[in-house]
Amino acid sequence: MCFMAKKIPEPTTYPRERAYLIGVELRNEPSLLRLEDSLSELSLLADTAGLEVVGETWQRLDHPNPDTFVGSGKVEEIKALVEELSAELLIFDIELSPRHLRELEQRFGNQVRVIDRTTLILDIFAQHAHTREGSLQVELAQYEYRLPRLTRAWTHLARQAGGGGGRTGSVGGVGLRGPGETQLEVDRREIRKRITNLKLELDKVRAHRMRHRVQRRRSQIPVVALVGYTNAGKSTLLNALASSDVYVANQLFATLDPTTRRVTLPKGHTALMTDTVGFIQKLPTQLVAAFRATLEEINEADLLIHVIDCSHPNALAQWQSVQFTLKEIGAQSIPVINVLNKIDLLENKEYLYTEFEQIPGTLQISALRKTGLKELAQAIEGMLYETLIPVNLKIPYREGQLISLFYDQGQVVKAEHSRGHIILQGYIPGRLVTSFQPYSIQLSPSDQKE
Ligand code: GTP
Repeated sequence: MCFMAKKIPEPTTYPRERAYLIGVELRNEPSLLRLEDSLSELSLLADTAGLEVVGETWQRLDHPNPDTFVGSGKVEEIKALVEELSAELLIFDIELSPRHLRELEQRFGNQVRVIDRTTLILDIFAQHAHTREGSLQVELAQYEYRLPRLTRAWTHLARQAGGGGGRTGSVGGVGLRGPGETQLEVDRREIRKRITNLKLELDKVRAHRMRHRVQRRRSQIPVVALVGYTNAGKSTLLNALASSDVYVANQLFATLDPTTRRVTLPKGHTALMTDTVGFIQKLPTQLVAAFRATLEEINEADLLIHVIDCSHPNALAQWQSVQFTLKEIGAQSIPVINVLNKIDLLENKEYLYTEFEQIPGTLQISALRKTGLKELAQAIEGMLYETLIPVNLKIPYREGQLISLFYDQGQVVKAEHSRGHIILQGYIPGRLVTSFQPYSIQLSPSDQKE
């Protein structure tokens, strides 16, 4: 999956559906982005999905309305606006519970369809997944999200989902009704069946990918994963460093499936560089789970390059949001180089020092103008081959090769033998951190003092 070249998506030929956006902020729930900023991100997401945004509104609430999330007065106001603007789709900038969605659909009747931020993101993912595994993952996530919320067919998904997600809209009307079953029950049964089949198919595809990954690890070439908020410039940077031609677009989630290239570093060492899916705030946990396999690529990396679009007004919040997800997937102990990209767009460079003070060891680059790349390549080579990282390990004797690797490439400070395993304290080059990760242990303070 990760070695496939990215295809340029087919242009959408449908007339653009008219979407109206609704932002909501709960006063007692802290959010990474301000309401207005989150709405402009939603607008960009809608545009990426091929929709035409015709207007937006928002509401700040202490508590969500149990029926319609926003207040009933707001619902009436939106109804009038929808009519005035001939909107066909309402997008809520939150995750709507099945109940909220049902109630809202009832209030708006056939006048307009209602979706939420998660549905929109899943829709974009469906359009942008180009590999078998990516398509299966999105389709599964779409069905799982849809199942408890099913009230009627989602024609938007049916029309929009290109490539992999193409079957998503075919649920309404399939299958034969059993005695006493409503069409809705038939649809639910069909979805459950499809979910089971998708899981089986995914297992097969993943087993195949695992074999590839094992081969890649055996090749001992270190893996560097580019991570960052969507649109930060990861693909552009991969192109610049690897002189390759990965699809770059000023769109969110242009990259969904990881792309891997071989890069030669200044002193002649090589590394495999992987471009990963862009992160986004309010990325639904369910989606993170669905993409766990893809995100595992990040977990298996020897080094992370965290690309930050420093020209973005919310760059710091975006950095925090990525950090949060990295923690969530258990990748927080992999060494990181933080890169401030798009410095060519900044007039005031002083701002960089104050604004990003709390981000450790940043390098400034412009992937587009190819500035600062030599320093970055040197830093990558240094981290992978020259910098020694402190580790404490408990390795079973059956992993003889790994123990020899430590003695050969690392520096042993202390070795202690006990039944069936060896405890090693010392330093290893950054590129080997991931290989030893499964055997990493926390030492008690008294052990560390010795
Ligand atoms: P996702 O696939 O959404 O995760 O995006 P990405 O992080 O891979 O971003 P991508 O490389 O597709 O770039 C997004 C946009 O930013 C494109 O229009 C790029 O041309 C632009 N871009 C990337 N790097 C730079 C830079 O250094 N300077 C400027 N001015 N634009 C840049």
